[in-house]
Amino acid sequence: MSTELKQRLLECFPDADAIPADCRILSPIHQRAILLNGEMRMWKGDTRAVYSPVRTRAADGTLTAVELGSFPVTGTEEADAAIDAACKAYDNGRGKWPTMSVAERIACVENFTNQLLARRSEIVNLIMWEIGKSLADSQKEFDRTIDYIKATIVELKALDNANSRFQIVDGTIAQIRRSPLGIVLCMGPYNYPMNETFCTLIPALIMGNVVLFKPPRFGVLLYYPMLEAFRSAFPAGAINIVYGQGNQVVPHIMASGKVNTLALIGTSKVADQLKKAHPKTNRLRAVLGLEAKNAAIVLADADIELTVKECIAGSLSFNGQRCTAIKMILVHQAIAEQFLRRFSEEIARLRMGMPWEQGVMITPLPEMSKVAYMQECIDDAVARGARVLNPGGGTAVETLFYPAVVFPVKEGMKLYREEQFGPVIPVAPFEDIETALEYVISSDHGQQVSIFGTNPDQIANLVDPLVNQVCRVNLNCQCQRSPDVFPFAGRKDSAEGTLSVHDALRAFSIRTMVAAKQTEASKKLLDAMVLGNKSNFVNTHFIL
Ligand code: G3H
Repeated sequence: MSTELKQRLLECFPDADAIPADCRILSPIHQRAILLNGEMRMWKGDTRAVYSPVRTRAADGTLTAVELGSFPVTGTEEADAAIDAACKAYDNGRGKWPTMSVAERIACVENFTNQLLARRSEIVNLIMWEIGKSLADSQKEFDRTIDYIKATIVELKALDNANSRFQIVDGTIAQIRRSPLGIVLCMGPYNYPMNETFCTLIPALIMGNVVLFKPPRFGVLLYYPMLEAFRSAFPAGAINIVYGQGNQVVPHIMASGKVNTLALIGTSKVADQLKKAHPKTNRLRAVLGLEAKNAAIVLADADIELTVKECIAGSLSFNGQRCTAIKMILVHQAIAEQFLRRFSEEIARLRMGMPWEQGVMITPLPEMSKVAYMQECIDDAVARGARVLNPGGGTAVETLFYPAVVFPVKEGMKLYREEQFGPVIPVAPFEDIETALEYVISSDHGQQVSIFGTNPDQIANLVDPLVNQVCRVNLNCQCQRSPDVFPFAGRKDSAEGTLSVHDALRAFSIRTMVAAKQTEASKKLLDAMVLGNKSNFVNTHFIL
């Protein structure tokens, strides 16, 4: 099986000429422009080459990584220049961007969005090539991001309009609005390089903050077609982009003490280090989306077909590289055999291949060390008594890794607790529901859980304790973030703060008020300010 499967995997990689014309990277992008202080600066220093997870196959079977281009590797000097540009643009809250009216900021974001839409196919193609996400999912990521921006604008209009009035309480007249926090350092993950980044970057910007943006490790070039949109749609310095070695540049930025908000979608280890690098932690707000180990609990009376379908999508969409992926399946002993048989059968039916192929589910992983880590997890579990249940599970050719179902996974194995973030699915049997509950309770993570079953009494008995362990309990469906208007949060090491269209606007702003005693003189003063249209804060404008 393994040799035959290896051959199949090898043949999934295309001959260069077989790549569809509309999906090709015509010529590599060698980015040298850096957006700093509203200008495109030309970089002459070190660069890093970008290779796709996709390989091309020569007639003799040799595989070659596809070169996508290169980008600047800037250092601490350029990071300092970006901090200075951000500080200048914010100007202690007096800059053009933080004092601009909400309606004007919305207009800038709309202009930016229209420029992005004009480059859709280019951006989608780069997402696909840089991280190996299927074309359909790359398109979905782009479109979902645009929808998110549009929903953010609608939400902000409603928020601002609701605050566009005075309140009088106990002889005090007040106008209460939301104001920016200052400088936001935004970092997104490689698996949703556009969507997850924009889910913090856009709310941060639109609320009047100034942004320092560090693109993810994989997914840098896809920002190249957006540079001009960033430059032209926003005032100088409202957004500055930093590149380079994350573990040097980012702690350096934090150590400056100039960052007011850290928006990171990454790991708790990095978040801990970065928070500690800030000299005045009490001045730092953190909006964090971190690792997760979401479990599926499959009860004895679960609908097997539905459970298998949801667990396949939950554990293997984009090769399991979603923070919300199901990363552990706990199945009741009474149906474990039947579930595992059907689950393995469905894995065998999944389409493996190149990201542009229709219906493809298993695509190349972004780096060889990821493939090695998947193998390491399997070897560790096997050495401790587990087995790979599905035929060929764990076979790899370069970056293509055939999913592995590992059973029975127990405490002490890497796969029991580590977030594998890839196409390996650990399964553990349970007899007593307490065992499944205990797994979630004793986990370091607390994002979501999925329960599969049909007995309302049993499900209710599980839901009540689980809602105090995680932030979303999914009934008979996979774990997921969407719809984006719903709260996306986590407990323990899984998150800090809540993201949703509604919550993100609040996460990147603070309520501020202008107050006066309810006297004739105050009324006259406020009337003059409002009627004379003198302030962007004290006004009763309604944004239509
Ligand atoms: O990786 C985390 C993503 O935000 C997950 O989003 O669950 O809608 O795929 P999703």
